[in-house]
Amino acid sequence: MGVSVSYDLAADIQKLKKEKNAVILAHYYEDGDIQDIADHVGDSFYLAQMGQKSTSEVILLAGVVFMAESVKILNPSKKVIVPDLNAGCSLVNGAPYEKYLEWRKKYLTGIAVTYINSSAQVKSISDVIVTSSNAQQIVEAIPADRPILFGPDKNLGSFLSKKLQRPFELWPGSCEVHVLFSAKKLYELINKNPDAIVIAHPECDQDVLQYASVIGSTSHLLDQVKNNSAKKFIVATEPGIFHQMKKMRPEAELIQAPEADGSCGCNNCPYMKLNTLKKVKQALISLKPEIQMNESLRMKAQISLDRMMNIASGKPANWPSQFLS
Ligand code: 13P
Ligand code: SF4
Repeated sequence: MGVSVSYDLAADIQKLKKEKNAVILAHYYEDGDIQDIADHVGDSFYLAQMGQKSTSEVILLAGVVFMAESVKILNPSKKVIVPDLNAGCSLVNGAPYEKYLEWRKKYLTGIAVTYINSSAQVKSISDVIVTSSNAQQIVEAIPADRPILFGPDKNLGSFLSKKLQRPFELWPGSCEVHVLFSAKKLYELINKNPDAIVIAHPECDQDVLQYASVIGSTSHLLDQVKNNSAKKFIVATEPGIFHQMKKMRPEAELIQAPEADGSCGCNNCPYMKLNTLKKVKQALISLKPEIQMNESLRMKAQISLDRMMNIASGKPANWPSQFLS
Protein backbone atom coordinates (compact mmCIF):
# COMPACT_ATOMS: atom_id res chain seq x y z
CA MET A 1 0.00 0.00 0.00
CA GLY A 2 2.73 2.49 1.09
CA VAL A 3 4.69 1.78 -2.07
CA SER A 4 1.75 2.43 -4.41
CA VAL A 5 0.80 5.62 -2.54
CA SER A 6 4.37 6.87 -3.00
CA TYR A 7 4.28 5.80 -6.62
CA ASP A 8 1.04 7.71 -7.26
CA LEU A 9 2.46 10.76 -5.52
CA ALA A 10 5.65 10.54 -7.57
CA ALA A 11 3.66 10.29 -10.81
CA ASP A 12 1.44 13.23 -9.77
CA ILE A 13 4.53 15.28 -8.95
CA GLN A 14 6.11 14.58 -12.33
CA LYS A 15 2.89 15.71 -14.04
CA LEU A 16 2.58 18.86 -11.92
CA LYS A 17 6.21 19.71 -12.57
CA LYS A 18 5.55 19.86 -16.31
CA GLU A 19 2.28 21.77 -15.93
CA LYS A 20 3.87 24.42 -13.70
CA ASN A 21 7.23 24.58 -15.51
CA ALA A 22 8.95 23.68 -12.26
CA VAL A 23 12.30 22.16 -11.37
CA ILE A 24 12.86 20.23 -8.14
CA LEU A 25 16.16 20.53 -6.28
CA ALA A 26 16.77 18.24 -3.31
CA HIS A 27 19.47 17.96 -0.68
CA TYR A 28 21.14 14.63 0.17
CA TYR A 29 19.60 14.69 3.66
CA GLU A 30 16.06 14.39 2.32
CA ASP A 31 14.31 11.03 2.46
CA GLY A 32 15.10 8.76 -0.49
CA ASP A 33 11.64 9.12 -2.06
CA ILE A 34 12.14 12.90 -2.32
CA GLN A 35 15.66 12.51 -3.73
CA ASP A 36 14.24 10.14 -6.35
CA ILE A 37 11.67 12.62 -7.73
CA ALA A 38 14.16 15.52 -7.85
CA ASP A 39 15.74 16.83 -11.06
CA HIS A 40 18.96 17.63 -9.23
CA VAL A 41 20.21 16.24 -5.91
CA GLY A 42 23.28 17.72 -4.30
CA ASP A 43 25.10 19.56 -1.54
CA SER A 44 24.27 23.13 -0.63
CA PHE A 45 26.74 24.64 -3.12
CA TYR A 46 25.48 22.54 -6.02
CA LEU A 47 21.86 23.40 -5.19
CA ALA A 48 22.72 27.12 -5.14
CA GLN A 49 24.43 26.75 -8.55
CA MET A 50 21.51 24.80 -10.03
CA GLY A 51 19.04 27.32 -8.62
CA GLN A 52 21.03 30.25 -9.99
CA LYS A 53 21.10 28.93 -13.52
CA SER A 54 17.60 27.46 -13.63
CA THR A 55 15.38 28.73 -16.42
CA SER A 56 12.20 27.10 -15.03
CA GLU A 57 9.51 29.48 -13.81
CA VAL A 58 9.20 27.69 -10.48
CA ILE A 59 12.01 26.27 -8.35
CA LEU A 60 10.95 23.89 -5.59
CA LEU A 61 13.74 23.40 -3.10
CA ALA A 62 13.39 20.30 -0.95
CA GLY A 63 15.97 21.02 1.69
CA VAL A 64 15.99 23.69 4.38
CA VAL A 65 14.82 27.29 4.07
CA PHE A 66 18.25 28.94 3.98
CA MET A 67 18.97 26.92 0.81
CA ALA A 68 15.78 28.18 -0.83
CA GLU A 69 16.57 31.75 0.28
CA SER A 70 19.99 31.49 -1.35
CA VAL A 71 18.33 30.46 -4.62
CA LYS A 72 15.89 33.38 -4.37
CA ILE A 73 18.78 35.79 -3.74
CA LEU A 74 20.70 34.47 -6.76
CA ASN A 75 17.75 34.08 -9.15
CA PRO A 76 15.16 36.64 -8.01
CA SER A 77 12.80 36.55 -11.00
CA LYS A 78 11.84 32.93 -10.20
CA LYS A 79 9.12 31.74 -7.89
CA VAL A 80 10.99 29.77 -5.23
CA ILE A 81 8.83 27.44 -3.17
CA VAL A 82 9.48 24.94 -0.38
CA PRO A 83 7.48 22.00 0.96
CA ASP A 84 7.55 23.35 4.54
CA LEU A 85 8.56 26.84 5.71
CA ASN A 86 9.41 25.46 9.17
CA ALA A 87 12.41 23.60 7.76
CA GLY A 88 14.98 25.75 9.58
CA CYS A 89 18.49 24.97 10.79
CA SER A 90 20.08 25.22 14.24
CA LEU A 91 22.94 27.26 12.78
CA VAL A 92 20.50 29.85 11.44
CA ASN A 93 18.59 29.92 14.74
CA GLY A 94 21.82 30.31 16.69
CA ALA A 95 22.90 33.42 14.77
CA PRO A 96 20.24 36.12 15.24
CA TYR A 97 20.82 39.23 13.14
CA GLU A 98 21.15 41.86 15.90
CA LYS A 99 23.71 39.85 17.88
CA TYR A 100 25.63 38.92 14.73
CA LEU A 101 25.75 42.57 13.71
CA GLU A 102 27.10 43.55 17.13
CA TRP A 103 29.83 40.89 16.82
CA ARG A 104 30.62 41.87 13.24
CA LYS A 105 31.07 45.53 14.24
CA LYS A 106 33.79 44.60 16.73
CA TYR A 107 36.13 43.69 13.86
CA LEU A 108 35.64 46.45 11.32
CA THR A 109 38.68 45.61 9.20
CA GLY A 110 38.01 41.88 9.31
CA ILE A 111 36.48 39.85 6.49
CA ALA A 112 33.21 38.26 7.58
CA VAL A 113 33.23 34.75 6.12
CA THR A 114 29.77 33.28 6.61
CA TYR A 115 28.61 29.73 6.18
CA ILE A 116 25.65 29.44 3.81
CA ASN A 117 23.71 27.97 6.77
CA SER A 118 22.69 31.48 7.84
CA SER A 119 19.75 33.85 7.40
CA ALA A 120 19.50 36.30 4.50
CA GLN A 121 19.92 39.11 7.05
CA VAL A 122 23.20 37.68 8.32
CA LYS A 123 24.35 37.19 4.72
CA SER A 124 23.59 40.88 4.12
CA ILE A 125 26.23 41.91 6.69
CA SER A 126 28.81 39.38 5.51
CA ASP A 127 31.62 39.80 3.00
CA VAL A 128 31.61 36.34 1.53
CA ILE A 129 29.57 33.16 1.86
CA VAL A 130 31.10 29.68 1.92
CA THR A 131 29.79 26.15 1.85
CA SER A 132 31.66 23.16 3.16
CA SER A 133 32.66 22.26 -0.40
CA ASN A 134 34.32 25.59 -1.27
CA ALA A 135 35.29 27.10 2.11
CA GLN A 136 38.99 26.34 1.79
CA GLN A 137 39.24 27.85 -1.69
CA ILE A 138 37.40 31.00 -0.54
CA VAL A 139 39.46 31.52 2.60
CA GLU A 140 42.66 31.04 0.59
CA ALA A 141 41.55 33.95 -1.61
CA ILE A 142 41.51 36.35 1.38
CA PRO A 143 44.69 38.44 1.79
CA ALA A 144 46.83 37.08 4.63
CA ASP A 145 46.84 40.40 6.51
CA ARG A 146 43.04 40.58 6.85
CA PRO A 147 41.53 39.19 10.06
CA ILE A 148 38.78 36.59 9.50
CA LEU A 149 35.51 36.36 11.39
CA PHE A 150 33.95 33.01 10.75
CA GLY A 151 30.41 31.98 11.62
CA PRO A 152 27.96 30.64 12.42
CA ASP A 153 29.51 27.13 12.58
CA LYS A 154 32.42 27.00 15.02
CA ASN A 155 33.25 23.42 14.02
CA LEU A 156 33.69 24.12 10.32
CA GLY A 157 35.57 27.29 11.34
CA SER A 158 37.97 25.47 13.71
CA PHE A 159 38.57 22.73 11.16
CA LEU A 160 39.50 25.27 8.47
CA SER A 161 41.50 27.49 10.78
CA LYS A 162 43.62 24.50 11.80
CA LYS A 163 43.99 23.21 8.25
CA LEU A 164 44.99 26.59 6.81
CA GLN A 165 46.97 27.61 9.92
CA ARG A 166 45.18 30.91 10.09
CA PRO A 167 43.49 32.32 13.20
CA PHE A 168 39.72 32.94 12.98
CA GLU A 169 37.38 34.83 15.30
CA LEU A 170 34.66 32.21 15.69
CA TRP A 171 30.94 32.67 16.26
CA PRO A 172 29.89 30.00 18.79
CA GLY A 173 27.22 28.17 16.73
CA SER A 174 26.90 24.51 15.86
CA CYS A 175 24.71 21.98 14.09
CA GLU A 176 22.47 20.23 16.59
CA VAL A 177 22.62 17.06 14.48
CA HIS A 178 26.35 16.71 13.84
CA VAL A 179 27.39 17.44 17.44
CA LEU A 180 25.55 14.30 18.57
CA PHE A 181 28.20 11.89 17.33
CA SER A 182 30.23 10.43 20.17
CA ALA A 183 34.03 10.42 19.86
CA LYS A 184 34.33 7.70 22.52
CA LYS A 185 31.87 5.39 20.81
CA LEU A 186 33.41 6.13 17.43
CA TYR A 187 36.83 5.12 18.79
CA GLU A 188 35.36 1.81 20.04
CA LEU A 189 33.66 1.22 16.69
CA ILE A 190 36.91 1.87 14.80
CA ASN A 191 38.68 -0.68 17.01
CA LYS A 192 36.05 -3.27 16.11
CA ASN A 193 36.27 -2.35 12.40
CA PRO A 194 39.92 -1.55 11.70
CA ASP A 195 39.34 -2.03 7.96
CA ALA A 196 36.71 0.76 7.78
CA ILE A 197 37.39 4.23 6.34
CA VAL A 198 35.97 6.96 8.58
CA ILE A 199 34.38 9.82 6.65
CA ALA A 200 32.90 12.88 8.37
CA HIS A 201 31.22 16.20 7.72
CA PRO A 202 33.17 19.21 9.09
CA GLU A 203 30.16 20.23 11.21
CA CYS A 204 31.14 17.41 13.61
CA ASP A 205 33.07 18.28 16.79
CA GLN A 206 36.88 18.29 16.57
CA ASP A 207 37.14 15.24 18.86
CA VAL A 208 35.11 13.26 16.31
CA LEU A 209 36.93 14.73 13.29
CA GLN A 210 40.31 13.61 14.70
CA TYR A 211 39.35 10.02 13.79
CA ALA A 212 38.23 10.77 10.23
CA SER A 213 40.52 10.15 7.29
CA VAL A 214 38.20 12.07 4.98
CA ILE A 215 36.45 15.30 6.00
CA GLY A 216 34.24 17.19 3.58
CA SER A 217 30.89 18.27 2.26
CA THR A 218 28.11 15.77 1.60
CA SER A 219 29.11 15.53 -2.07
CA HIS A 220 32.76 15.02 -1.14
CA LEU A 221 31.83 12.17 1.21
CA LEU A 222 29.70 10.63 -1.50
CA ASP A 223 32.62 10.82 -3.96
CA GLN A 224 34.77 8.96 -1.45
CA VAL A 225 32.33 6.10 -1.20
CA LYS A 226 32.07 6.02 -4.98
CA ASN A 227 35.79 6.13 -5.74
CA ASN A 228 37.55 4.56 -2.76
CA SER A 229 37.95 0.83 -3.23
CA ALA A 230 37.47 0.16 0.51
CA LYS A 231 34.55 -2.12 1.34
CA LYS A 232 33.55 -0.59 4.64
CA PHE A 233 32.86 3.03 5.65
CA ILE A 234 31.92 4.60 8.96
CA VAL A 235 29.87 7.67 8.09
CA ALA A 236 29.61 10.67 10.44
CA THR A 237 26.92 12.76 8.85
CA GLU A 238 23.13 12.83 8.46
CA PRO A 239 21.84 9.42 7.32
CA GLY A 240 19.79 10.73 4.36
CA ILE A 241 23.02 10.51 2.39
CA PHE A 242 23.02 6.71 2.67
CA HIS A 243 20.38 6.64 -0.07
CA GLN A 244 22.85 7.75 -2.76
CA MET A 245 25.78 5.89 -1.17
CA LYS A 246 23.87 2.61 -1.37
CA LYS A 247 22.98 3.26 -5.00
CA MET A 248 26.62 3.91 -5.86
CA ARG A 249 28.16 1.08 -3.86
CA PRO A 250 25.45 -1.51 -3.10
CA GLU A 251 28.09 -4.05 -2.04
CA ALA A 252 29.88 -1.74 0.43
CA GLU A 253 29.14 -1.85 4.15
CA LEU A 254 28.05 1.56 5.42
CA ILE A 255 27.99 2.06 9.18
CA GLN A 256 26.42 5.13 10.76
CA ALA A 257 28.77 6.76 13.29
CA PRO A 258 27.35 6.27 16.81
CA GLU A 259 25.52 8.89 18.85
CA ALA A 260 26.36 9.54 22.48
CA ASP A 261 23.18 8.13 23.96
CA GLY A 262 22.53 5.10 21.83
CA SER A 263 20.27 4.76 18.88
CA CYS A 264 17.80 7.59 19.44
CA GLY A 265 17.96 8.43 15.73
CA CYS A 266 18.56 12.04 16.73
CA ASN A 267 21.12 12.56 14.02
CA ASN A 268 18.31 12.66 11.52
CA CYS A 269 18.02 16.38 10.76
CA PRO A 270 14.56 17.24 12.11
CA TYR A 271 14.27 20.18 9.71
CA MET A 272 15.16 18.30 6.53
CA LYS A 273 12.81 15.53 7.57
CA LEU A 274 9.81 17.90 7.78
CA ASN A 275 9.58 17.60 4.00
CA THR A 276 7.46 14.80 2.57
CA LEU A 277 6.32 13.80 -0.93
CA LYS A 278 2.81 14.85 0.03
CA LYS A 279 4.03 18.36 0.92
CA VAL A 280 6.04 18.52 -2.31
CA LYS A 281 2.89 17.75 -4.29
CA GLN A 282 0.83 20.26 -2.32
CA ALA A 283 3.46 22.98 -2.84
CA LEU A 284 3.41 22.37 -6.60
CA ILE A 285 -0.39 22.62 -6.66
CA SER A 286 -0.64 25.84 -4.64
CA LEU A 287 2.83 27.24 -5.51
CA LYS A 288 3.14 27.94 -1.79
CA PRO A 289 4.82 28.38 0.62
CA GLU A 290 6.85 30.83 -1.38
CA ILE A 291 10.13 32.45 -0.33
CA GLN A 292 9.43 36.17 -0.11
CA MET A 293 12.16 38.68 0.44
CA ASN A 294 12.39 42.41 0.65
CA GLU A 295 14.35 43.58 -2.44
CA SER A 296 16.81 45.79 -0.56
CA LEU A 297 17.70 42.89 1.77
CA ARG A 298 18.02 40.56 -1.22
CA MET A 299 20.41 42.91 -3.01
CA LYS A 300 22.60 43.30 0.08
CA ALA A 301 22.73 39.53 0.65
CA GLN A 302 23.54 38.96 -3.02
CA ILE A 303 26.89 40.75 -2.69
CA SER A 304 28.38 38.09 -0.40
CA LEU A 305 26.81 35.21 -2.35
CA ASP A 306 28.04 36.60 -5.67
CA ARG A 307 31.53 36.89 -4.21
CA MET A 308 31.41 33.20 -3.30
CA MET A 309 30.20 32.26 -6.78
CA ASN A 310 32.92 34.35 -8.43
CA ILE A 311 35.80 33.01 -6.35
CA ALA A 312 34.55 29.44 -6.70
CA SER A 313 34.55 29.82 -10.46
CA GLY A 314 38.13 31.09 -10.44
CA LYS A 315 37.51 34.84 -10.80
CA PRO A 316 39.63 37.28 -8.76
CA ALA A 317 38.08 38.73 -5.62
CA ASN A 318 37.85 42.34 -4.53
CA TRP A 319 37.48 42.90 -0.79
CA PRO A 320 35.97 45.93 0.95
CA SER A 321 38.62 47.75 2.99
CA GLN A 322 36.36 47.81 6.04
CA PHE A 323 32.83 47.07 7.18
CA LEU A 324 30.39 50.03 6.90
CA SER A 325 32.99 52.05 4.95
P1 13P B 1 26.60 20.32 2.54
O1 13P B 1 26.81 21.63 1.88
O2 13P B 1 27.87 19.56 2.77
O3 13P B 1 25.59 19.52 1.80
O4 13P B 1 26.05 20.57 4.01
C1 13P B 1 24.83 21.17 4.28
C2 13P B 1 24.38 20.94 5.64
O5 13P B 1 23.46 21.53 6.12
C3 13P B 1 25.10 19.97 6.44
O6 13P B 1 24.49 19.83 7.67
FE1 SF4 C 1 21.24 22.66 9.80
FE2 SF4 C 1 22.47 20.61 10.92
FE3 SF4 C 1 20.19 20.20 9.68
FE4 SF4 C 1 22.41 20.76 8.26
S1 SF4 C 1 22.01 18.94 9.51
S2 SF4 C 1 20.38 21.68 7.98
S3 SF4 C 1 23.42 22.20 9.66
S4 SF4 C 1 20.50 21.44 11.54
